[in-house]
Amino acid sequence: MQNTRAYISAIGMYVPEKRVTNDDLAELVNTSDEWIRERTGIGERRVVADGECNSDLSAKAIENCLANSGVSAEEIDLIIIPTVTPDMAFPSTACLVQEKLGAKKAWGFDLSGACSGFLFALATGAQFVQTGTHKKVVVVGTDVMTSIIDPQDRATCVLFGDGAGAVLLEPTEDEGIGFLDFLLRADGSGGKYLHMPAGGSKNPASHETVDKRMHYVHQDGRTVFKFAVKYLTEVTLEILRRNGRVPEDLSLFVPHQANLRIIKSTAARLKLREDQIAVNIERYANTTAATIPISLFESYSNGRLKKGDLVVLASFGAGFTWGSVLLRWGI
Ligand code: UT7
Repeated sequence: MQNTRAYISAIGMYVPEKRVTNDDLAELVNTSDEWIRERTGIGERRVVADGECNSDLSAKAIENCLANSGVSAEEIDLIIIPTVTPDMAFPSTACLVQEKLGAKKAWGFDLSGACSGFLFALATGAQFVQTGTHKKVVVVGTDVMTSIIDPQDRATCVLFGDGAGAVLLEPTEDEGIGFLDFLLRADGSGGKYLHMPAGGSKNPASHETVDKRMHYVHQDGRTVFKFAVKYLTEVTLEILRRNGRVPEDLSLFVPHQANLRIIKSTAARLKLREDQIAVNIERYANTTAATIPISLFESYSNGRLKKGDLVVLASFGAGFTWGSVLLRWGI
């Protein structure tokens, strides 16, 4: 097996057309635009249309990604979909998307890593490219969070949105671009602070689980907040340190977008300048596995990311799961 370097050779995104503002939500639950903006930085979120599901968003994000690449769906070797909101338990959303795209040669699977899912999937996909067994791997971080949030719970329903971001991974001989390092972590003792209790084998769907609202996201926000800042900071510093770098060297820091206060606290601890940080939570809220690829896509599209730039992606979420990826941007 050869050891090639993998890089992101194309990127695309898709968000549903429907916008839901904070004022819209204030008509449904006891909240306000002021509270949501002050506590989270969120202004609006996108929400799927009736009948629109994960595989629709994923397929559109991949189509946009491929349109920017010159690669056809038939050439894809592998599709990985990190998500906590698949179309259904099985078949995998990856299989449903393979069919929608006509990606006949591809195999694929879904990956459960919650808000860290995109980084876990990038690391997984990159291994297949780096060993030389696969040449074209698609990773699409997609979540339809509005399908699992309680519309009556103001503590969670204001935080999330729907969206998808896709990247194509390919091999490169260019030593100035591509993935440099992955640092991935999990601590299952944090599971109780952010979870959806029913719908799996532990609490199969029943009248009781529905009545008790167990098919929705339950979160201890303050605890999650505290760990998010601590671990996002640690994992960013560690990946930089072990590669002989410091935060000042970064062209762009792309954190998971869960709360603007988490991003700002982390950035302050890392002593990052504002122009080093990608932030778009105001427009999309927390789209779980999609926040990082969507931020990357927008940073690339608006010219903030240039070939050769040193970038850290960092995430924290349910599990607990967290991690960082160090790369040099390649397009
Ligand atoms: O991506 C997955 C990872 N998730 C996260 O990273 C989320 C981390 N946590 C957070 O972002 C924040 O903890 C939240 C945004 C969820 C909550 O912000 P907070 O500043 O920690 O507020 P809190 O939960 O301590 O609640 C403060 C008050 C409470 O009222 P009392 O008890 O002080 O009277 C809540 O009932 O705010 C109240 N509250 C609201 N008020 C208006 C909670 N949600 C709302 C709301 N509108 N939507």
